[in-house]
Amino acid sequence: MVDTRTQYHKIKSEVDKAVLDAIESAAFINGKPVQEFAANLSSYLSVKHTIPCANGTDALQIAMMALGLQPGDEVITPSFTYIATTEVIALLKLTPVFVEVDAKTFCIDPVALEKAITPKTKAIVPVHLYGHAAPMKEIMAIAKKHNLFVIEDNAQAIGCDYTFGDGTKKKTGTIGHVGTTSFYPSKNLGAFGDGGAIFTNDDELAAKLKMIANHGQSKQYFHDVVGCNSRLDTIQAAILNIKLKHLDEYIEARRKAADYYDKAFAGNQKIKTPYRAIYSNHAFHQYTVILEGVDRPDSYRENLKQFLADNNIPAMIYYPVAGHRQKMFEQFNVASQVMPVTDWLTERVISLPIHTELDEEQLSFITQKVLEYINNPRLTAVGQE
Ligand SMILES: Cc1ncc(COP(=O)(O)O)c(C=O)c1O
Repeated sequence: MVDTRTQYHKIKSEVDKAVLDAIESAAFINGKPVQEFAANLSSYLSVKHTIPCANGTDALQIAMMALGLQPGDEVITPSFTYIATTEVIALLKLTPVFVEVDAKTFCIDPVALEKAITPKTKAIVPVHLYGHAAPMKEIMAIAKKHNLFVIEDNAQAIGCDYTFGDGTKKKTGTIGHVGTTSFYPSKNLGAFGDGGAIFTNDDELAAKLKMIANHGQSKQYFHDVVGCNSRLDTIQAAILNIKLKHLDEYIEARRKAADYYDKAFAGNQKIKTPYRAIYSNHAFHQYTVILEGVDRPDSYRENLKQFLADNNIPAMIYYPVAGHRQKMFEQFNVASQVMPVTDWLTERVISLPIHTELDEEQLSFITQKVLEYINNPRLTAVGQE
């Protein structure tokens, strides 16, 4: 789905030097590149504080801990997301409240969100899924009205701009009370291993986040609150520092690939290409289409995936099982929840390769093969009536 090797080779000399310098410094933990990267990322995002940590899942956990959420507090989140978003809610003995997404943006539906609020609700976790911003204006207004925290899960959308009605722009991840991200290697800003970060403009919250990520320590060997051990190591920070300089061009390359796909699939009744809301400039972490107007969509999709695999084209289903249908959450009695949009999407979405290194030849081959399947009843036999 990605080609991180070719991407690395284009910046190899810079990256190799940074890695060797980090090794030579022997400051493997919390070395200079960690602070430098945090400062550079803060400046890129125009956010006051960036707290690096070990991965995007920890980032969410630390954010929820720092906001002082207590067992039994309800946290509203879309059901249609990666498990990390929702898992940490349960891990902290909070109650996940799953809501519907919008069929066009794949992000949390503000109407469903407001309906799900109860006196126990304390926080909302919108997810900027696939690189498309959630409707933050509406979400922030609801949060303000009901006095709720907003934790943006920005793991898939770093670099995406959100434009408000008056034309002002903010980077996703910096609009809510706190934002989180992941530097998993395939992400738009990917490390060569695990990594994550937390963002906030709130000084007091930043101090708490830092403390929690470092064993709840206020000064060495003085531990004021229960925390965890979550660090971005120096080598990863050194690599990310170089890749950050290329982030905008990486996103642009993804957008170009998305434009190519959009054009190739335009007008095809069976492939609904990704929607781009006026307020969001899509960062295209994924290029996810909806297979429409097909009977037995599950097997139709599985056959398409297999057909593409037979032609050496990877494709992925993000995500085949929504949160409210995961066994992990049985204790919350969510399986009977009615979420027609989420269920409809889980059966029909398929993500095609999208990354910085796709060239026209590859894009042409992928789109040809997808259309060959879609337009050839013989190949789609299992999925047809
Ligand atoms: C939406 C979302 N949230 C959270 C995470 C967790 O990030 P990590 O894998 O770095 O823990 C991911 C990563 O895949 C993600 O896509």
